[in-house]
Amino acid sequence: MNDGGQRRYGPLGRALVIIPTYNEAENIKPIVTRVRAAVPDADILVADDNSPDGTGKIADELAAAAADSQVQVLHRQAKEGLGAAYLAGFRWGIEHGYGVLVEMDADGSHQPEELPRLLTALKGADLVLGSRWVPGGRVVNWPKSREMISRGGSTYSRLLLGLRTRDVTGGYRAFRSETLQGIGLDEVASQGYCFQVDLARRAVDAGYHVVEVPITFVDREIGDSKMSRDILVEALWRVTSWGVAARANRVLGRKPS
Ligand code: GDD
Ligand code: MN
Repeated sequence: MNDGGQRRYGPLGRALVIIPTYNEAENIKPIVTRVRAAVPDADILVADDNSPDGTGKIADELAAAAADSQVQVLHRQAKEGLGAAYLAGFRWGIEHGYGVLVEMDADGSHQPEELPRLLTALKGADLVLGSRWVPGGRVVNWPKSREMISRGGSTYSRLLLGLRTRDVTGGYRAFRSETLQGIGLDEVASQGYCFQVDLARRAVDAGYHVVEVPITFVDREIGDSKMSRDILVEALWRVTSWGVAARANRVLGRKPS
């Protein structure tokens, strides 16, 4: 918990990098190779939603070629959204005794070479957010339209939810397992990218010490973004309803739910 910096943090424990995939056949091998090179001590869990392009099978081959638990694959039945894939990955990682759970996209937007900086910051924090919108952070090759959506979404969420962190929608993060266990994962209903906002606000509301580390987000070169109108609509209504509920709770003097 955040008690003014007085808290002593325990050792980090083993790290699991969770990579959700849906149709990332050409990206999965390069990203796994880069993670292995950048953080050889970390294990990888690919959480694949039965991708029609065979990503899951390629991931199985990578797992078979790796030693022991270094690369593992969670095969899910169908495309249920980024949030559901991460929830399943987190549960798997916690059950298997990992002390650190990392979120990372498969498409190279989150550079594995930056992960050691996130993990170093986690030594003195409960949650580390890779951040595009703090000094030193940036995005490369993103269309202006997409940057506007992302910046707008972050600003809207921050203002409505009263968060001080700059990048609340980003998906490059490192959690201590205790943090995930303390924020009520069982109650998380977010399916799409608002999952990221949901976890950030839960961590802040629970009093955890959340630190932002600047990252360079590089737009994917291969394959397509899964961002969709449905994902945006879900984000808008959920963030708005969390904001309204938080205000009502403040007025009524209740604790955040
Ligand atoms: N298993 C699974 N199921 N994986 C999914 C699903 C799904 O339904 N939807 C997306 N993914 C995977 C993709 O295969 C990729 O590895 C990662 O999630 C991110 O998806 P992208 O489609 O590449 O996301 P983006 O680049 O548009 O969005 C990025 O920015 C968002 C806004 O900042 C991501 O970093 C998001 O996490 C972030 O919220
Ligand atoms: Mn992407």
